[in-house]
Amino acid sequence: MARAPRIKHYHAPGRVNLIGEHTDYNAGFVMPIAIAVGCDVRVSSIRKKEIRLTSKQFAGDLSFPLNSIADMTKTGTWADYVMGVAKEILALGFELKPSHLAIDSSVPTGSGLSSSAALEVSSALALLGDNEVPKVELARLCQRAEREFVGMPCGIMDQYASVFGEAHKAIMLDCRSTTHKLVPIPDGAEIVVVNSMVKHELGSSAYRNRVAECQQALSHFPGKPALRDVTLGELERTAAKMEEIPLARARHVILEDLRVENFLVAAEDGDLPMMGKLMVESHRSLQHDYEVSCEELDSLVDTALTIDGVFGSRMTGGGFGGCTVNLVDPEFVDAFEREISARYQEQWKLTPAIYRFSPSAGARRVE
Ligand code: GLA
Repeated sequence: MARAPRIKHYHAPGRVNLIGEHTDYNAGFVMPIAIAVGCDVRVSSIRKKEIRLTSKQFAGDLSFPLNSIADMTKTGTWADYVMGVAKEILALGFELKPSHLAIDSSVPTGSGLSSSAALEVSSALALLGDNEVPKVELARLCQRAEREFVGMPCGIMDQYASVFGEAHKAIMLDCRSTTHKLVPIPDGAEIVVVNSMVKHELGSSAYRNRVAECQQALSHFPGKPALRDVTLGELERTAAKMEEIPLARARHVILEDLRVENFLVAAEDGDLPMMGKLMVESHRSLQHDYEVSCEELDSLVDTALTIDGVFGSRMTGGGFGGCTVNLVDPEFVDAFEREISARYQEQWKLTPAIYRFSPSAGARRVE
């Protein structure tokens, strides 16, 4: 009797960022948590010399001959996230084995919860198999896949959070040194994520523009490697020479880095009102200075701030739709969910999906 092929199962989580938005590609600070939803990849050996991909969420069966992968160009489908990773694995000098990757993701796509990083990291583990790489290299190779193959000039936050997530802790990541500190989430608050159910098309082109605008702002500070290195005082002294848009973008990045540092202190002190205040300041800065929010997200934040038991609320992720993250007193969470859902439906005729997330473990082999 033929033996059933041996299947190895890997999981990588999505993430929610608590604070520190659009700072990662400026070498700054971010504070994400890995979440309970993620991407599962079951990999088995096959005879044919190819990588075969199937997905529970997307129809079709995609196959890529092994000898074509090093030179392949992007297909414009979800397979690019996996094949970009495959190319990076080859570039590191590892061999790819003929395999079938059966993919199943529970991260809602387009929600700003990093479905792409979860797909990249779980696929990387499946394709690497017994070839181990240091965890930070795993995050970096997935980021390179997204930047160079998919063509999205993202920072390191999403892939890093997916790799390094820890139960019960947020991760304060220094995106320059790519090292992190674990941050306790005080008892007395739940992390409640509200999905606006919208994703404005503008998203990826606006992201590219923001990356470019930050570079433009940085050009006013010769000798500084990144906006992370510019102080508020230096920005104020240079402001008169800067155009309005790069000035506003730089102001966001510089103040957001300070907010992440203050959020860390507040979390360590168990100061929930301060954590909430910093989240709201972050949102206002993303709304007015960085201009990556949208009316739906603003209304979710404005509504949340009128509901009892809410310490703070802000958009999370790249923006232009997706989710808000809310810090809510556990006793008020049920009422918060009812209220925000009813009021959002009334205003936008959309039912928001709501998730209660506690920080979860990072990418791993399941069996
Ligand atoms: C997206 C990118 C991240 C980060 C956020 C904004 O999620 O993938 O690298 O820049 O937007 O903070």
